[in-house]
Amino acid sequence: MTDKHIVITIDGLVASGKSTVSRKLAQKLYFLHVNSGALYRNVAFWAEKQKVSLKDENQLEKIAQSLKFEFKLNSAGITELYVNNMPCSQEIFNEHIGLLASQVSMFPKVRTVATEVQRAQLLNGSLVLEGRDAGSIVFPNAKFKFYLTASVEVRAERRLKDQLAQGNPNVNLEEIKENLERRDYTDTHKGIYSLKITETTQIIKTDDLDIDEIVELLAVKVKA
Ligand code: DC
Repeated sequence: MTDKHIVITIDGLVASGKSTVSRKLAQKLYFLHVNSGALYRNVAFWAEKQKVSLKDENQLEKIAQSLKFEFKLNSAGITELYVNNMPCSQEIFNEHIGLLASQVSMFPKVRTVATEVQRAQLLNGSLVLEGRDAGSIVFPNAKFKFYLTASVEVRAERRLKDQLAQGNPNVNLEEIKENLERRDYTDTHKGIYSLKITETTQIIKTDDLDIDEIVELLAVKVKA
């Protein structure tokens, strides 16, 4: 029964911690973790593979419609994404595909398909849905809606640490900061699809919190 299923939306700027927080919170609650960015990334990834122009909205819509997305919870409470019956390629998470995804996500027809995919997941269980428009467009009536925020300086420091931990020594704090500012601008200037804080969204400032503290804070709010 879908009305028994709970939706928690987590929106936020790039590097606000929303991906890790969403994944960990979903695992803690044994909910499906739906990472909406992965949908746009897959459309971009397959468009590039099939040499489809990233300006051709109709072709991009067709690609989006041709992909069967399945989010499956494994026995450890971790959500695995399958695309057309295959485990989702990890390649989609690289910077290059991220940039292409930001282009394909501008198209209303692509967004409509992605929105339907996200809503359909509610048939499979309770959700932690991570995105930009999760609480404003996809599930405006979600029971719990959170918006994670932190200053651009704190987010840049986090990105820097991640990149260094991944063994990438060629990173520069100023460059990361400029990149984040550019992506913040795009994310907040997409018309109706912009990252939005609705009246019923709880704003969570994460500057002084680490990931586990944020997860704990949200878990307490959900259980209250
Ligand atoms: O969250 P992410 O970095 O994986 O998202 C990849 C791109 O897709 C990013 O440029 C923003 C866009 N996106 C979006 O427009 N709406 C969403 N719900 C999720 C992602």
